[in-house]
Amino acid sequence: MCGIIGYIGEKNCVPILINGLKRLEYRGYDSAGIGIIANGNSEIVKNKGKVSLLEHKMKDLQLYANLGIGHTRWATHGIPNEINAHPHSNLSNTLFLIHNGIIENYRVIKKELENQGYHFKSDTDSEVLVHLIDRFLTLGFDLCKSVQLALNEVVGTYGIAVIYKDEPDKIIAARKGSPLVVGLGNNENFIASDVSAILAHTKQVVYLDDGELAVISKDNFIVKNISDIEIEKEVHEISTTLEEIDKGGYSHFMLKEIMEQPESVRNSMRGRLLPEDGTAKLGGISEVVDRLVNSKRIIITACGTSWHAALVGEYMIENFAQIPTEIEYASEFRYRNPIINKDDTVLVISQSGETADTLAAMREAKSRGALVLGICNVVGSTIARESMAGVYIHAGPEIGVASTKAFTAQLVVLSLITLLIARRKNLSMAEGKKIVEALNSLPDKITDILKLNDRIEQLAEKFKDANNFLYLGRGYQFPVALEGALKLKEISYIHAEGYPAAEMKHGPIALIDENMPVVFIAPKDSAYDKVVSNIEEVRARGGRLIAIASENDNDIDRLVDDTIKIPDTVEMLRPILTSIPLQLLAYHIAVKKELNVDQPRNLAKSVTVE
Ligand code: M6R
Repeated sequence: MCGIIGYIGEKNCVPILINGLKRLEYRGYDSAGIGIIANGNSEIVKNKGKVSLLEHKMKDLQLYANLGIGHTRWATHGIPNEINAHPHSNLSNTLFLIHNGIIENYRVIKKELENQGYHFKSDTDSEVLVHLIDRFLTLGFDLCKSVQLALNEVVGTYGIAVIYKDEPDKIIAARKGSPLVVGLGNNENFIASDVSAILAHTKQVVYLDDGELAVISKDNFIVKNISDIEIEKEVHEISTTLEEIDKGGYSHFMLKEIMEQPESVRNSMRGRLLPEDGTAKLGGISEVVDRLVNSKRIIITACGTSWHAALVGEYMIENFAQIPTEIEYASEFRYRNPIINKDDTVLVISQSGETADTLAAMREAKSRGALVLGICNVVGSTIARESMAGVYIHAGPEIGVASTKAFTAQLVVLSLITLLIARRKNLSMAEGKKIVEALNSLPDKITDILKLNDRIEQLAEKFKDANNFLYLGRGYQFPVALEGALKLKEISYIHAEGYPAAEMKHGPIALIDENMPVVFIAPKDSAYDKVVSNIEEVRARGGRLIAIASENDNDIDRLVDDTIKIPDTVEMLRPILTSIPLQLLAYHIAVKKELNVDQPRNLAKSVTVE
């Protein structure tokens, strides 16, 4: 979603802002802009489309300034065009604002301001903020106070950065619902929606919390709350490196991230396995582990791919830890008055830790007294900070919009939580040791699966022109079917559906003809024989059959047109292996269709609006 960067210091901010915006491209956007203030001049440059276009414009203009803000916009109110792009400015072009989030009462405020003579250029909700701040400036308040007074009038969510020609020694930033981080340098400071935008310049950061406002100058920063009281903030050192957020020689981030999975899966369990005891230890939840183990019920809430991981978690926890488990779309959970008891545990899964619906669901669960644990990838993200305890998945930065390595790392963490609870309940040490052993051997098995890349690329060539796909699996492989279908549709724009294999005959079977590729996720597990019957049903109707099967399965080849054979593991961990060929299949189909794999149309990496 929208990205924010701001700079104040002694260097020319233009290349810093442009490079920062390039680092934010992965979030998804449709227009970009920069506002700078220098030597009594103020200038905005913006356009629809790519940051590279903005870069060309800036080069032609040869601008220089020590103070500036930049933005990538993901349209919510008003079509993507130059006028709706940020920054927005007041009528005298002296006050610039960039905004992430949604101002819900913008219509009312806009009307009031129009009655007072304010003229609106854009169709955005964001523009009301700049005129509202301007109104307070004209009443004689300084910039900081004017921003505070304006924010008091708005309902909605925001992460904003504001600069003003008459106070060129500061950036004002404020947050409610949209992440912001202050970056600290030497005689220079930064504001950003995401650390990747400023990582090239500093690793010292301060995370703003909701309701906080920062006054940032080149050699200082002050954070205040809504009541204007100064707040002492902790400075964090970020461990992410620039290499981790680069493509590292791969043609796309998605491919790099798929290929990184032997390492990311290893990192997600590093130091967390106790082979001698056949169990796991998770430092982040050690203080609440008794409450977790004694939960009467576990609810897992998430969106998208993280929701699919949650579904696998349900199978794991109910099978091994024997605690009733429910999975909830975060967007539904928050609005349907859910029954939550004090002896429930709510697990909140989010790669970014910033998804608006998931964050709101987490707050709802917390307010109702449940134990709320976060499972996040991004260190220092809002969900990670606001959950009562949690476990990082340690997948490393995930830049491709399509989630890949975060999914497999989420599954590893869910298996560790399951193992930990199950061993405290009734799982034997011998069974626990088998799972630990299987976990330890996952990275090598993933390496073997990745060697099938060329074979999967051939399959992609064969099926790239299909208009529809069905993905079918049973038990643990049903969520994998959903995830395989989601991967394909989000980056290749091919319509794809995932179903529990047996459900096919209750409707989707009507779709099957010789044009319909059907991907069966059919490892040799407890559901195998039943899945084979479902394969026969598709075969009888002429569907084009592809199977993800176990390497020792010699029977399946005669039933399907194409097979991808992969190493086996224990049932609970199989989704970690079976999902990887599906990631590669989606990737290669999208590449062959010449689509923008890392930034698919209309999608954002981190969905920070409802
Ligand atoms: O950051 P989160 O895990 O909370 O994100 C949830 C979804 O938006 C995300 O998984 C989305 O579905 C991805 N594009 C899937 O590839």
